[in-house]
Amino acid sequence: MGALKPSSPNVGKPGYFLPKPVCAWLAGGFVSLALLHVLCCSPPATQNAVFSPLIQYINDTYNFVSSGPESCDYSEGRWVWSPGHARRYNATECNAKWGHDCIRNGRPDTGYLDWRWQPAGCRLPAFDAAAFLSTMRGKHVAFVGDSMARNQVQSLVCLLAASFPHTVVYRDPELWKIYFWRWWFPTHEVTISFYWAPFISKATGKAENDSLPQASNTVYVDALGDRWAADADTMDVVVLAAGHWLLNGAVYYNGSEMIGAHNHDELNTTYIGYALPLRLAYRKSVERLSSGRPRTLVLATFSPSHFERVGDSYGCPRKAPYREGEVAMRDVEKELVGIAMEEAEAARARGGPGSTLRVEVLSVTKLAKMRPDGHPGVYMYRDAPSNGKSDCLHFCLPGPVDTFNEILQQILTKRR
Ligand SMILES: *[C@@H]1O[C@H](CO)[C@@H](O)[C@H](O)[C@H]1NC(C)=O
Ligand SMILES: *[C@@H]1O[C@H](CO)[C@@H](O)[C@H](O)[C@H]1NC(C)=O
Ligand SMILES: *[C@@H]1O[C@H](CO)[C@@H](O)[C@H](O)[C@H]1NC(C)=O
Ligand SMILES: *[C@@H]1O[C@H](CO)[C@@H](O)[C@H](O)[C@H]1NC(C)=O
Ligand SMILES: *[C@@H]1O[C@H](CO)[C@@H](O)[C@H](O)[C@H]1NC(C)=O
Repeated sequence: MGALKPSSPNVGKPGYFLPKPVCAWLAGGFVSLALLHVLCCSPPATQNAVFSPLIQYINDTYNFVSSGPESCDYSEGRWVWSPGHARRYNATECNAKWGHDCIRNGRPDTGYLDWRWQPAGCRLPAFDAAAFLSTMRGKHVAFVGDSMARNQVQSLVCLLAASFPHTVVYRDPELWKIYFWRWWFPTHEVTISFYWAPFISKATGKAENDSLPQASNTVYVDALGDRWAADADTMDVVVLAAGHWLLNGAVYYNGSEMIGAHNHDELNTTYIGYALPLRLAYRKSVERLSSGRPRTLVLATFSPSHFERVGDSYGCPRKAPYREGEVAMRDVEKELVGIAMEEAEAARARGGPGSTLRVEVLSVTKLAKMRPDGHPGVYMYRDAPSNGKSDCLHFCLPGPVDTFNEILQQILTKRR
């Protein structure tokens, strides 16, 4: 197993970056020297090999210098090789779910930790724990949703815990369950919570008791998940991440009236699909958070799984990100991204300029789609027992999901 490097040197040290003019000068100097060397002293093949990364580098640097986070669209881009970028913490030390602690579980390859997301029009800064906690000083950041919301909150806690002390305020007694967790970062008085609500809306059945069959899920579109709705007034930032359970299906009620179902062919009722229930859940959340203190609602888009056939079972054997153009977004993935965009836009329009609720989209579908290599796979269990099971949905911690929080940090830092 490769040794885990200590957390990267810039974590918690905002002064690490040189001022931009100095950077530009240095970069310019190096680039000129390198160009001169290549032009006068290299065979043509080397010139090509050197030029394309070089042009890419100049382009990225130029884009970085010329556009700040205000104008950046982080949703489009590509993964670029960046040794060590994702080696930020030891997931065992921050109590991440064991199934996502790939290094502990013996995953032998570590190349999946050597990539950084390069948005199309700017540079995405690495996660800065000190800056994140300063921005959120005294505030309550809540993640609400399914196991991808849980994956992201654990990433955030680990990114912060690598540099700052924290305590676990509450944790469900069964470690495998994790329906409600809360952490406290005393240096900045920041609270971070996770609320299990895989439909966002109120739901019974498997959503409440994992031993029940999937077909038992019943969702009430006129109400939000009890626990998070009860605490909503205390939240300053709410990140909603859901989608997989809606795609799987449920029976839907509006109060006591059954209004439809998805994936219940046996019921003689209206087909409701997943799009309308997701829209209704977003709208109800916006309504719930629109009064009271000023706050930010972040709609995190769908993070796709990467199961593919491996022998006679399904797994995720790839060892590198997809290259641009190697894989296309599925229609349903595009649709789910579109729903988040449209509902955020509609909420902004309804709220108007004086609204206390800011609604943003954390668009991670494309960057997640490009990372078939970042899942635990068979290393969801320690030493990968060959029982044929793989996790190709959640991401290893550390891993690509840390990038979700790099983007979240930019969203929360951005001026209104
Ligand atoms: C992570 O931390 C645990 C507990 O402190 C330790 O046993 C383990 O060796 C560490 N892993 C790595 C890869 O450093
Ligand atoms: C340079 O960056 C721009 C803006 O992101 C992009 O459209 C263009 O394709 C890039 N050019 C090269 C050569 O990578
Ligand atoms: C969950 O469902 C199982 C299977 O029906 C049942 O035995 C168990 O008591 C339920 N647990 C709770 C907490 O309701
Ligand atoms: C739910 O019922 C209420 C009250 O009858 C109604 O106003 C609302 O439009 C219904 N919502 C849906 C999604 O059916
Ligand atoms: C399904 O519902 C419709 C409308 O309520 C009814 O006319 C029809 O008989 C039902 N079909 C069955 C198989 O129950």
